[in-house]
Amino acid sequence: MTHPIIEDLLWRHTSKKYDPTRRVSEQDLATLFEAMRLTASSINAQPWRFVVIESREARERMSRTFGDKFPNNQPHVFDASQFILLAHNPRYTRDDYAKVVDQQIADGRLDPENRQAAFRSFVFAEMNTDENGDTSCWTRAQTYIALGNALHTLARLRIDATPIEGIDTERVNEEFRKELAGYRCEVALAIGYSHPQDDYNARLPKSRLAMARILLRI
Ligand SMILES: Cc1cc2nc3c(=O)[nH]c(=O)nc-3n(C[C@H](O)[C@H](O)[C@H](O)COP(=O)(O)O)c2cc1C
Repeated sequence: MTHPIIEDLLWRHTSKKYDPTRRVSEQDLATLFEAMRLTASSINAQPWRFVVIESREARERMSRTFGDKFPNNQPHVFDASQFILLAHNPRYTRDDYAKVVDQQIADGRLDPENRQAAFRSFVFAEMNTDENGDTSCWTRAQTYIALGNALHTLARLRIDATPIEGIDTERVNEEFRKELAGYRCEVALAIGYSHPQDDYNARLPKSRLAMARILLRI
């Protein structure tokens, strides 16, 4: 099968080693960040916050959170061009949704006189809020849509990436408490350019389950 989308998805792989001498251009970063901002989410909730680690100081802070866990992921903190924390709002409230509704009015998508009616969609958030006000299951899922969108955008830009759940979430959330501002990070994304020799995954064939195992047309 040949199609530009399939070519992108066959081109990409999870980078296991970055070339520390190469950095992503500001132009490509702007495209990536805009693609992440444009990600779809349930009721347009956008319950995410992305923290881009790129300064020496922030990299050192991130590196320290690893301790002795996930040693294969730790080198990406310094070698990758950027190391991005994807965080979700674990307690998404009506006030959070009000910001979305008001933005929709500002963007000309919603008539101001329908403001109250727009809150009917908030039932989806309520359905996904537990008795303690925790919305993590739902808001975390939205964050993974942004991750998927970022992976394909990066492939299109021919920028390598590593989606990363192998982080010490407790330590990351403690270290970046101020920047995360109440949001919770459970997944990260390293981006940059694979090391020309040392990224073993670059040479391995793509492996996926057969279509018949995962897809049923009825
Ligand atoms: C949510 C998520 C978390 C992942 N966490 C890690 C990780 O911590 N370290 C790592 O090297 N790869 C990680 N991976 C990469 C997967 O192992 C990889 O996507 C899968 O084996 C398919 O290979 P490919 O990405 O090269 O096509 C993660 C992937 C996803 C989608």
